[in-house]
Amino acid sequence: MSKKDLAGLGLDTQLIHAGHHFDPATHALAAPIFQTATYGFNTVEEMDAAWGKLGYLYTREGNPTVLALEEKLAILEAGEAALAAGSGMGAVCSTLLTLLSHGDHLLCSEGLFFHSDIFMRDLLQKLNVEVSFANFKDTENVNQSIRQNTRIIFIETPANPTLGVVDIEAIAAIAKSNDCLFIVDSTFAPPPIQRPLQWGADLVIHSLTKYINGHGDTLGGAVIGKKELIDKIRYPGMPCFTGAALSPFNAWLIMRGMMTLEMRIEKHCQNALAIAEYLESCPYVDRVIYPALASHPQHNLCQKQMGGKGGGIVSFWLKNNINGMTVREADYKLLNATKLLTIATSLGEGLTLIQVENSSMIRIAVGLERAEDLITDLKQAFDQLQITKE
Ligand SMILES: Cc1ncc(COP(=O)(O)O)c(C=O)c1O
Repeated sequence: MSKKDLAGLGLDTQLIHAGHHFDPATHALAAPIFQTATYGFNTVEEMDAAWGKLGYLYTREGNPTVLALEEKLAILEAGEAALAAGSGMGAVCSTLLTLLSHGDHLLCSEGLFFHSDIFMRDLLQKLNVEVSFANFKDTENVNQSIRQNTRIIFIETPANPTLGVVDIEAIAAIAKSNDCLFIVDSTFAPPPIQRPLQWGADLVIHSLTKYINGHGDTLGGAVIGKKELIDKIRYPGMPCFTGAALSPFNAWLIMRGMMTLEMRIEKHCQNALAIAEYLESCPYVDRVIYPALASHPQHNLCQKQMGGKGGGIVSFWLKNNINGMTVREADYKLLNATKLLTIATSLGEGLTLIQVENSSMIRIAVGLERAEDLITDLKQAFDQLQITKE
């Protein structure tokens, strides 16, 4: 179905039908995978014609399976166009490398995902892009951080892993009045939780590796927004010259995952809220951060911008001196005692993952198991903290 026919339908319907066409040659209903590096032609003239149209010549430049995914991604965020990348970092780096020039200033929210942070601080600064970070909870502070050469404002909301929430609508207004592009990394809150373009962002970035694929079996990334900007990034930015191309098989896996995105997100959010509430009641826990909890400092903003859905990540700190242990010792003991929760980094898949950050904060990427089973596992792991330190 065309984008026009899908307008006004539910997100679940759109995500099943967008980009889906049965194969006209064989009538195979499931989407084909064009697992090819290059394309063959009968004549040189045919090949010349393909060059002219930016058609299918070589998969780093274009591939029908990747294109079908891009159609689904544009619908997902209600954007005009989308561009897929080999990973979330592929999308972040290629977008910024294309849109920034020597001498421009990039203003970022504090507490970005640490690989994005390293890219901004180390690599972009080497290319003589000015980069600064500000606390985006205070919009006056953002206004004051704008410079004459500020070209892009880049935020992550909710932030990984501190779960700070930034007011997209307010920052979009600041970006507009200062003639800057505004980019939101929305990996932690894909639709139906929030749609940054509808709050005024110019571009939204996702690591497709996480909720959008949802099965923990491929990397992927995307940037979505106005066609004019996406075209600018597509050529010469990516995937052609940065090499951040997505493989056709991975594009196919992500499309398959997207068909169930809406119902998966609902369950991630329900499970995460149940775990956050349990942790808040737990005597060993010092502090819990989850945007949908009344105790979260931006709870009202979560209601407005995220429809009250907090996403699938819950972060918390244990109390110091539990049974004579330091926080770090207790963190390790708790994690090592979990059975159903898996010690691993990443998020947005069926399995619930748990990890300790350098700050001794514990992050749970809540999966799709039954919430009571996860809480029972956490309870038995907390019980282990009572056993005297050997
Ligand atoms: C907010 C955010 N942006 C970008 C990325 C990078 O995504 P990928 O691992 O797909 O490169 C991550 C990865 O965890 C992330 O959490």
